[in-house]
Amino acid sequence: MFTNPVTSREIRLAARPIGEPKPTDFAFAEVPVPAPGPGEILVRNTWMSVDPYMRGRMNDVESYIPPFAIGAPLDGGAVGEVIESNAPTVPVGATVSHFQGWRDYALLPASAATVVDTNIAPAEAYLSTLGTTGLTAYATLREVAPVREGDVVFISAAAGAVGSIAGQLARKLGASRVIGSAGGPVKGAKLLSDFGYDVAIDYRAGSVADQLTEAAPDGIDVYVDSVGGDHLRAALSALRTHGRVALVGAISQYNATEPVPGPDNLFLAVGKQLSLRGMIVTSYFHLYPEYIGKAAGWLADGSLHAEQTVMDGLDQAPAAFFGVLNGANTGKMLVRLT
Ligand SMILES: NC(=O)c1ccc[n+]([C@@H]2O[C@H](COP(=O)([O-])OP(=O)(O)OC[C@H]3O[C@@H](n4cnc5c(N)ncnc54)[C@H](OP(=O)(O)O)[C@@H]3O)[C@@H](O)[C@H]2O)c1
Repeated sequence: MFTNPVTSREIRLAARPIGEPKPTDFAFAEVPVPAPGPGEILVRNTWMSVDPYMRGRMNDVESYIPPFAIGAPLDGGAVGEVIESNAPTVPVGATVSHFQGWRDYALLPASAATVVDTNIAPAEAYLSTLGTTGLTAYATLREVAPVREGDVVFISAAAGAVGSIAGQLARKLGASRVIGSAGGPVKGAKLLSDFGYDVAIDYRAGSVADQLTEAAPDGIDVYVDSVGGDHLRAALSALRTHGRVALVGAISQYNATEPVPGPDNLFLAVGKQLSLRGMIVTSYFHLYPEYIGKAAGWLADGSLHAEQTVMDGLDQAPAAFFGVLNGANTGKMLVRLT
């Protein structure tokens, strides 16, 4: 029989970051791990996710997801092994995904965990390609800004978690040309070799607008915006009549300390009759069975390339989070906890 670990380490929000988050905004704590009550399971977390949206939750503002509380443990996507169970539906030994990351052990209702199939892919894939990351890319290109046969598609943050999958999915959905933007030549090469892109734009090397015009002289049909700012402005100029924009994120302004004005060419959306649509992945869970059915097949036949950047140990979780905001990752940034 398993003997409870005496304590578990967890990471708490110590202070609300101003601008770029820093180590002192986080605090480590050691807490006792109680035995599971009725219907509860105890999970030894093996992997956790760090995601750009967590930066917004560190501000004290109302949004689609509540802000983190000062002094409370952070949370977010994690996977792990059930080591004690008081719930008939989730046995000891099962691998589960859940939302109590940023800690070594998680005590939670079994109803808040999903048993995942590690025969299809390793557990950590459920935090990336087979998780909300992959679903974000799929739902965006299927429903939010649907890709049609022959479309020219432009994707920002293209070498990251969502972007690395989105490039490949755009091609599978029939795009004739897939253009990605990422920081630096190494990521640019990766876009072309592994992530399904035809053209790589290095936004750090020069004007996004000029590079996009060169990459798509006749314009683009779909833009997946994860960045905002100069990328959204350039895309609005390049979009053709009836073009579609998925507003997925705006990472260029997550650390802003003042409100950031919108693009000064938004009026182009009128004349070109553009559609601009915000997306939050939790509104697209109905597509998950369809997506995972396809993605599992693509992973198995090698036609979907999944990449991750891994940092080891809970101690490294804040650094991994800083890294995902600063571009230290290619593919999905993950923290391995074993
Ligand atoms: N709406 C939703 O439901 C949903 C779900 C998932 C993700 N998202 C959003 O999608 C975007 C990507 O998320 P992700 O998890 O896939 O993260 P990610 O792309 O793996 O990581 C973020 C990347 O953004 C790039 N970046 C950082 N600052 C930038 C800047 N000023 N200009 C251009 N690029 C910058 C960095 O790559 P470089 O080296 O290329 O700069 C970094 O690797 C984020 O905006 C996130 O908030 C939204």
